[in-house]
Amino acid sequence: MRVAIAADHGGYLLKAPLVAVVKEAGHEPLDLGAHSAERSDYPDFARAVGEALQQGLAERGIVICGSGVGACIAANKMRGIRAAICHDTYSAHQGVEHDDMNVLVLGGRVIGAELAAEIVRVFLNARFSYGERYMARLKKVALLEQGLTW
Ligand code: RB5
Repeated sequence: MRVAIAADHGGYLLKAPLVAVVKEAGHEPLDLGAHSAERSDYPDFARAVGEALQQGLAERGIVICGSGVGACIAANKMRGIRAAICHDTYSAHQGVEHDDMNVLVLGGRVIGAELAAEIVRVFLNARFSYGERYMARLKKVALLEQGLTW
């Protein structure tokens, strides 16, 4: 699948090794920057990845900032984006299987390259389970996104 990936300066160093991991795992990375370690704004990169998913240019996304927090907050403001910081492998697959997480967020100042690589592999291998209870919960999440309730 195509995987959009982007990072601000806080995640810049982690991006290139993770682009390689995406390729080695048999997927097609779509590198949306940053293309230098100069100071930049994480919402720009969360937006780039979110728009790639919204426009159907990628099926999954990876955003990296310093802690993961800012990029996660920004990405989750976008319609149809279900982003989460995962610094462990359990959350990285369970978040897809149960919650249909489509954007993995990492903190480049928090996590090492090897663990990040494993997390990316696990995230890309995971599939949404389509279990009835997970679908029902996702429907509620979609209503929240629309400012509606149930
Ligand atoms: C940049 O210094 C840093 O604030 C940003 O990468 C991120 O950690 C925000 O959550």
